[in-house]
Amino acid sequence: MGGDRDAMADLAVMSRRTAQLIPWKAAGRVSEQLPSGDEVVRSTGWVFNNATGDDLTLAEFVATGDEEVPAYLEVFGLRGEHTANQTLIEIGAGIGRMTCAFTREFGAVIACDLDQGFLERCYEAVGRFGKVERLRTLEVADGRTLNIAAGSADVAFSYITLQHCSVDDALDLAAEAVRVVGPGGRIALNFRGPAPSDVLLVPAGKLVRALYRLPGLGSWATRRRRLTRLAWQVSRLHPDQVTGPLGPHLSGIEVWTNPNSNLRGYGAEMRTFEGINPAHWWLVATVV
Ligand SMILES: C[S@@+](CC[C@H](N)C(=O)[O-])C[C@H]1O[C@@H](n2cnc3c(N)ncnc32)[C@H](O)[C@@H]1O
Repeated sequence: MGGDRDAMADLAVMSRRTAQLIPWKAAGRVSEQLPSGDEVVRSTGWVFNNATGDDLTLAEFVATGDEEVPAYLEVFGLRGEHTANQTLIEIGAGIGRMTCAFTREFGAVIACDLDQGFLERCYEAVGRFGKVERLRTLEVADGRTLNIAAGSADVAFSYITLQHCSVDDALDLAAEAVRVVGPGGRIALNFRGPAPSDVLLVPAGKLVRALYRLPGLGSWATRRRRLTRLAWQVSRLHPDQVTGPLGPHLSGIEVWTNPNSNLRGYGAEMRTFEGINPAHWWLVATVV
């Protein structure tokens, strides 16, 4: 308990620039202390897939990733005869919901996350449900830089992560995705687009993140699902804000949305897939 209090005091002094990292760090510390992956899914699994319940299991949690991964790889054209010899970098892997399936598809997987506690759980999940000999983990200590050599992977993939970063960090991580795959590599990056509800949600998110930094209250707030969901409302990016800076390094730029979305990207080929959350969009492209 003493350690827990110290950890929360550390979180409270995180700067305003990094306040959006606090709920992940807090959930990561809880997950480190729990005795099993099943317990982690029951206690903190909601930070990944929004499911709650006393009878949730790690197996069910990983099964949701097992369904999504092949679908996205197929739809985005990332699955082919060479996949088994390729390296995939997953930005924001969490406790391995999708990573297990990635290790069955790719010859090597580098799971990157802000939180080392999540990455340890990811390793454990892949040990049970994936091919752990293909997995490497990488802590993204500053939330914006991948400590990996340029051109060291074939595919960079990120799902429900960049929307939780500040705009600057999300753009930096997107640029890092381009750098680490290098020419010929493919990127598939998921973002949340602007919406009318942002008028309320974005300021509410800022308010909760300010609360996180208050001693005592912050620790309490990080364990409240509704508050945390508000605090997650960090960045909305229009496709042009991403393709503007990255466009010169990309070819075959596709912006994927839900068929009901009105979002359009300048100079991008617009594609739709009904499996995409209506508030989200994906940038899929080849690095030149
Ligand atoms: C909603 S979870 C998604 C996890 C996984 N992609 C999935 O679909 O289950 C977001 C993950 O992104 C990580 N994350 C948030 N901000 C990050 C950053 N700046 N750099 C790296 N990881 C980050 C969190 O720690 C968390 O594990």
